[in-house]
Amino acid sequence: MIIAIDGPAASGKGTLARNLAKHFSLNYLDTGLIYRAVGAIVLEKGKDPSDPLSATTAAQTLKNNDLDRDDLRSEASAAAASKVAAIPGVRAALLAFQQHFAASPPGAVLDGRDIGTVVCPKADMKFFLLASAEIRARRRVKELQDRGEEAIYASVLSDLRARDERDSGRSTAPLKPASDAFCLDTDSLNAEAVFKIAVETIEERFASNKRSGS
Ligand code: DC
Repeated sequence: MIIAIDGPAASGKGTLARNLAKHFSLNYLDTGLIYRAVGAIVLEKGKDPSDPLSATTAAQTLKNNDLDRDDLRSEASAAAASKVAAIPGVRAALLAFQQHFAASPPGAVLDGRDIGTVVCPKADMKFFLLASAEIRARRRVKELQDRGEEAIYASVLSDLRARDERDSGRSTAPLKPASDAFCLDTDSLNAEAVFKIAVETIEERFASNKRSGS
């Protein structure tokens, strides 16, 4: 079973993906972390994350332990990730790893921006999470403060909007729902409610597939 979860930054993808992976005993891949690692490496080298050569080289030489860096959750890595992610060579270099992960038994939940459209177009279930920029900024501020980091709502909101624009406006694998994705607006839902709806939707989908023999 492969479950694809896409959506903008701070829409609750990660929490839902982790909960579903645990519930259905599947592997879990946060694909944003891969782009964050590429962005962080480019920044560390003092290069511009929008530079195709620097970013593509970093993506092509990425190692598994780069995903364990402790600076990946920073806002600087997030912004750099969104810039390197617009470069086609970077996306091409990271595609096979994600597809191999998804295809490995017993199956996986992947979250990102293009999982349902590009990485796993044949996923058994696709979710696209939505939430207003204001709600997402509030959630991100809380997350940063819970980690003991300083967070200013106005700057978190403007960073999120800039990232949304880059992630949705790029020509390669832009953020958008797959035509067969189940879209869920999480503005007025907490993580528990989102999880419950997702589990019910998956179970209904599998029950109806079983009935129709597909
Ligand atoms: O999910 P995240 O916020 O950690 O992702 C960081 C950035 O990486 C995001 O702004 C865009 C990029 N990204 C992407 O382009 N495609 C993915 N599948 C995952 C992330």
